[in-house]
Amino acid sequence: MAIIKTTDLDKLDFDSAINELKEYFDSLGARKGRVLTYNVLTYGCQLNESDSEKLSGMLASMGLTQSKGGELDDADVIVFNTCSIRENADRHLFGNLGVFKTLKKNDRDVVIAVGGCMMKVPENVEKVKKSYPYVDLVFDPQQLHKFPVLMRDAIRKNKQLVNITADDYIAEDSFFPIDRKRKFRALVPIMYGCNNFCTYCIVPYARGRERSRDFNEIVAELASLAADGYKEVMLLGQNVNSYKGEDGKTFADILRAASDFKEFSRVRFMSSHPKDLSNEVIDIMAERPNVEKHLHLAMQSGSDKVLKDMNRPYTIDRFLEIADYFRTKVEGGSLTTDIIVGFPGETDEDFEETLVAVNKAKFDAAFTFQYSARPGTKAASYPDQIPADVVTERFGRLTELTNRYAEESNARLAGKTMEVLIEGISKAGDMTFSGRTITNHLVNFTIPEELGIEIGPDYLEGRLCEVRIERARPYSVDGVLVSLKGE
Ligand code: 5AD
Ligand code: SF4
Repeated sequence: MAIIKTTDLDKLDFDSAINELKEYFDSLGARKGRVLTYNVLTYGCQLNESDSEKLSGMLASMGLTQSKGGELDDADVIVFNTCSIRENADRHLFGNLGVFKTLKKNDRDVVIAVGGCMMKVPENVEKVKKSYPYVDLVFDPQQLHKFPVLMRDAIRKNKQLVNITADDYIAEDSFFPIDRKRKFRALVPIMYGCNNFCTYCIVPYARGRERSRDFNEIVAELASLAADGYKEVMLLGQNVNSYKGEDGKTFADILRAASDFKEFSRVRFMSSHPKDLSNEVIDIMAERPNVEKHLHLAMQSGSDKVLKDMNRPYTIDRFLEIADYFRTKVEGGSLTTDIIVGFPGETDEDFEETLVAVNKAKFDAAFTFQYSARPGTKAASYPDQIPADVVTERFGRLTELTNRYAEESNARLAGKTMEVLIEGISKAGDMTFSGRTITNHLVNFTIPEELGIEIGPDYLEGRLCEVRIERARPYSVDGVLVSLKGE
């Protein structure tokens, strides 16, 4: 798989395709007598979200506006940014694609594009070709910079265009217009792909080998985000701790550089692998006030045998040693994890070891997954797959335990007054606000009227405040705003 850097020529092609498409959509909109809209559907991880923000930015540069209807098919350009990690991702995609047949029949100008990790699995591409001929474009998640060119060509030719290749690109992020979902939060990929080949995981196939972005490019991007008023940056990669920049630059260097910008009140990062996380990174988390006090470290299993079969090169003792170091150094910090149950060959004893490890690590939150075989991965062909009823039973026991620790973690906050970065009004729509602490705990809170705080149309999104926590729930805490901090 060749790793290719995008060039100035790519940038020229990119810009000219966007301009052409803008002219096309402007005249189509004039003909239809309305503003044309787009909808980018995202089903995946933070990197998938980050790609969607770029796709949205490109579509906005083509003169389209984001569809507000909330319905999947309520747009003139619909882009599926698929994910192959999430459970049922394929049902999600193929179920929805079926719905678009009528839409496309009624309006031939509608454009439907499918990209993301699922399109790196040849079976899925074949299925789109065969069963969904009205999909206009299948594009490669590793070649986002080609999206406008491909879309222009698909529209010109009026015929399904499929462009999936074996090449890996490093496209510098300064290349793209970005339409950020949160006005205070910037997602900043620092590396792409993964070399770990955990035997259950499709990512190294879907996202290619590890490529680190230029250190100086990243710092330049951070500087411009700071100048633009962003309060939170999220440094992203499948495995951020194996970042390798020029002149031996490491992830610790990036974390320090990001937290040097005092404009950022939160510097977050995802994800870390136990084999690559250094104590130095944990020390930085402890020392620097604007680095989040939250570490997401996937454990996956508490059994050394299963970890070995998963190709996760650490022992559970080593994992717990890191967990201990984090707990000792980052006082009050939160430790979260991913755990898979029912990996092929997992015995009752192995599963019990996972429960023992959870009891030791006492995760503040855990994402728990039932193992599901992903075509193309090594574990999919392992002989001793676990029957579904056993997986379900183990999963139930595991989530009961992890939920208990999550609730305990929330309960420890009750009675404290904590700084919260406001995300906006909560989904319930009842003037309850929500936000996160620097430990990544979710806080829902009310604002007493007597404080006379002017709320404004953006519901204080991106502002910092102090909240007195009054009550813990399983996945969040409730509180009352005490004071709003200055701009
Ligand atoms: N089955 C179940 N869970 C999986 N994950 C990744 N691949 C699979 C799979 N095939 C989980 C891992 C990973 C998280 C993002 O998704 O726990 O850390
Ligand atoms: Fe997948 Fe393992 Fe890489 Fe994470 S570290 S993306 S689980 S292969």
